Amino acid sequence: MSDFRFEIKARDAAGRIGKLTVNGKTVETPAIMPVINPKQLTVSPKELKKMGFDMIITNSYIIYKTPELREKALNLGIHGLLDYDGIIEVDSGSFQLMRYGEVEVTNREIIEFQEEIGVDIGTFLDIPTPPDEPREKAARDLEITLERAKETAEIKKIAMNAAVQGSTYPDLRTYAAKKLSEMNFEIHPIGAVVPLMESYRYRDLVDVVIASKLGLRPDRPVHLFGAGHPMIFALSVAMGIDLFDSASYALYAKDDRYLTPEGTKRLEELEYFPCSCPVCSRYTPQELREMPKEERARLLALHNLWVIHEELNRVKQAIKEGTLWELVDERARSHPKMFAAYKRLLEYRDYLEKNEPVTKASAFFKVSEESMRWPIVQRAVERAERVEEKFPEKVEHPIFGEVPKYLSLSYPFAQSEGEEDFTIEKPEKSEARKYVMAVAEYQFGEGAGEAFKDAFVELSRKTGMPRQVKAKGKHLATFRVEDGLLTLGIEGAKRLHEILPFPRMRVVVNSDAEPFARRGKNVFAKFVLDADPAIRPYDEVLVVNENDELLATGQTLLNGEELKVFESGLAVKVRRGVEK
Ligand code: GUN
Ligand code: ZN
Repeated sequence: MSDFRFEIKARDAAGRIGKLTVNGKTVETPAIMPVINPKQLTVSPKELKKMGFDMIITNSYIIYKTPELREKALNLGIHGLLDYDGIIEVDSGSFQLMRYGEVEVTNREIIEFQEEIGVDIGTFLDIPTPPDEPREKAARDLEITLERAKETAEIKKIAMNAAVQGSTYPDLRTYAAKKLSEMNFEIHPIGAVVPLMESYRYRDLVDVVIASKLGLRPDRPVHLFGAGHPMIFALSVAMGIDLFDSASYALYAKDDRYLTPEGTKRLEELEYFPCSCPVCSRYTPQELREMPKEERARLLALHNLWVIHEELNRVKQAIKEGTLWELVDERARSHPKMFAAYKRLLEYRDYLEKNEPVTKASAFFKVSEESMRWPIVQRAVERAERVEEKFPEKVEHPIFGEVPKYLSLSYPFAQSEGEEDFTIEKPEKSEARKYVMAVAEYQFGEGAGEAFKDAFVELSRKTGMPRQVKAKGKHLATFRVEDGLLTLGIEGAKRLHEILPFPRMRVVVNSDAEPFARRGKNVFAKFVLDADPAIRPYDEVLVVNENDELLATGQTLLNGEELKVFESGLAVKVRRGVEK
């Protein structure tokens, strides 16, 4: 059995930066696999590796059906055939099945062939049902795909894809995703979406992707099959897509088409290159047009690859900064159909809220009217309403309207930028405790403020802002400078543990993890038994054992549902342990 691991390192919106490891090789996600046509190499796999593409995809069916390639692949292995030492994934011929109606191979044959030639990640022969097919056809195709999935899961020896199908029927997509999640697979592509993207039906793409994500286990990477245009990376990653593949870099290049993150340009319409990659800084559009066809196609392919790479880097940087929604909003302006897709995505409030971090490295920027429908805003407003009942004093905020006065130092109210400035008023000494109690209600939920009802809050002499929260000489919490939220000390954690009934704020770990957590060491996902479903990414949590004894407090990267499912990677970055 091959080794396969996927862990999350950072996140924003429903997107994530992950680390995928297979057969000792690693790739950071979101990642894009350039598609290699084994019959015609525009750019060699070796060059692709040098450009930073650590994973490629090719088609095992084409190799299987071409005698010379097949011989060579069986003798040298796929890595030898392609002269590439990164991760090689292969498709199965399913796409040929969709385009030409049939293939000359059985599911079992193609899986066995993939194993024989030593691929890192295989794909079984799923049936891609195109959009808008009659429901009966989509349901029948899906049953065959699920049958083949079952057969595959029983005989497979390597990491495999299991594509979610179901045409444009959201309930079939969710059903397929649930069924496949129960089986032994490593990656879930979302299939048969190429026709949607070719006809700019991005809004329908959003429905298909979210319906699939709703049924999928959250711990497996998700690949948007056949998606490789940089225009859709930000939106797709924000929905929770981890992997892409691109044949377009080469296909478009042959057709004199030039990719940009805002859309596709024709070489003939370009007077200037809006890019400074090695190709675009060396030549003018006119010079490229005058080149022999083959040389031109290669240079355009290289540009297309640089742009794809750059846009993915931009998306990853946005995740790190907590500005992915800003980027999605910006990209949505490049095409009315993208804008429609963006607005559609914002309708999936529960899905988005569940995955949205509670705090970010960057301030909230109100860049558009749509910003007010981002999950961070929706959540802040809902939670503020809860706090309002106990702390009715208000201040006027230029973006959020009336907000509870005692939340006015906290994310996103204080950490926001709109057209007008929000003037933050420093707390009066006599009111400092109310700020902490209100933030506790806002951050940890109903009743949490009680833990701080006798607290003494130190105000910073330099900034006048709350800092350390203490009671009876003991440290309860720190009021964070960056986001106006609380980091718990042991005493504060103990008080919340006492006040809030199980399972609130809890991450339950097994006895193997207990001594480590008590000593302040990090908790890994494989030790987690249970978790409060209300936990959100980057929440401060209480780590407990099966008897609900407090072991530690820290910050989690995962939400409650993910904490229960993930088997690899970090679960809680422990800040302080509770010694016995
Ligand atoms: N390539 C593009 N779409 C698909 C799909 O639905 N299934 C497979 N196996 N490959 C694809
Ligand atoms: Zn360029």
